[in-house]
Amino acid sequence: MTQDELKQAAAHAALDYITDGDIVGVGTGSTVNHFINALAGMRARIRGAVSSSEASSARLRAHGIEVFDLNGIASLPVYVDGADEIDASFAMIKGGGGALTREKIVAAVSERFVCICDASKRVPVLGRFPLPVEVIPMAARHVARELRRLGGEPKTREGFITDNGNLILDVHGLEIADPVGMETRINQIVGVVTNGLFAERGADVLLLATAAGVERHTAKPV
Ligand code: 5RP
Repeated sequence: MTQDELKQAAAHAALDYITDGDIVGVGTGSTVNHFINALAGMRARIRGAVSSSEASSARLRAHGIEVFDLNGIASLPVYVDGADEIDASFAMIKGGGGALTREKIVAAVSERFVCICDASKRVPVLGRFPLPVEVIPMAARHVARELRRLGGEPKTREGFITDNGNLILDVHGLEIADPVGMETRINQIVGVVTNGLFAERGADVLLLATAAGVERHTAKPV
C-alpha cells in the first residue's frame, strides 16, 4: 500500500467515532482531506463541522457540510486530525500544514481527540520532524534567539503566512524527552502564539494504518 492509501484507510476508520447528529471537529492536512471526503458520504447524518483551517473549511463547504463557528457551539464530542509525529504517550508534533494554533484550540474544546496516521508517524522520541512554532511577526528574531537557547535551530518557513496572519519557525534538531515541559517552556516565550507540541492535550485514540490493517489504540489513563 502507498502512504496515501494508508492515510485513506486511517481516515475511513475514524467514521466509526462519529455519532448521528454530531458537530464534528475537523483538522487539517492530506490525511484529514481523506476524512472530509469520507465524511461527505454521511453528511446527512451529521449537523456539520468545526474546522481548524481555511483550507479545511473550504473543502467541507465544497462537500455541502456546514461549518460552524467554535464560539457558537456548547460542546464538541470528537475532533479528528492527523499528526506529523506521535509517541507512545500519544503526545504529538503537529503543524506541518501550519494550522497548529487553530488545531490546538479545537482540540482543547473537544471531548475526544482521534488521531489518524499512517505508521510512519509513530516514533519513540518526538523531534526528528522540525517543531513548528507560530510567531507574531515582530517577535520573530527574539523568539528564534530563545529557541536556540533551548538547543534548537529555527528556520523561518519561507513564503508562508498562517490563517492568523503570523509566521512559522520550524525548529530543527530538538530531541524532545519531556514533551509537556517543552510545550510549556516554548509557550512562555513572548511573541509565541503557540507551538506544535500537543502533549498537555494529546490524542485519546490513535488510528494507525499499517499494511496489515488499521490498528486502534486508546490512550492509557494518567
Ligand atoms: C497540519 C497538521 C497535520 O495534521 C500534519 O501536518 C499531518 O499532515 P498530513 O496528514 O498531510 O501528513 O498538523 O497543521
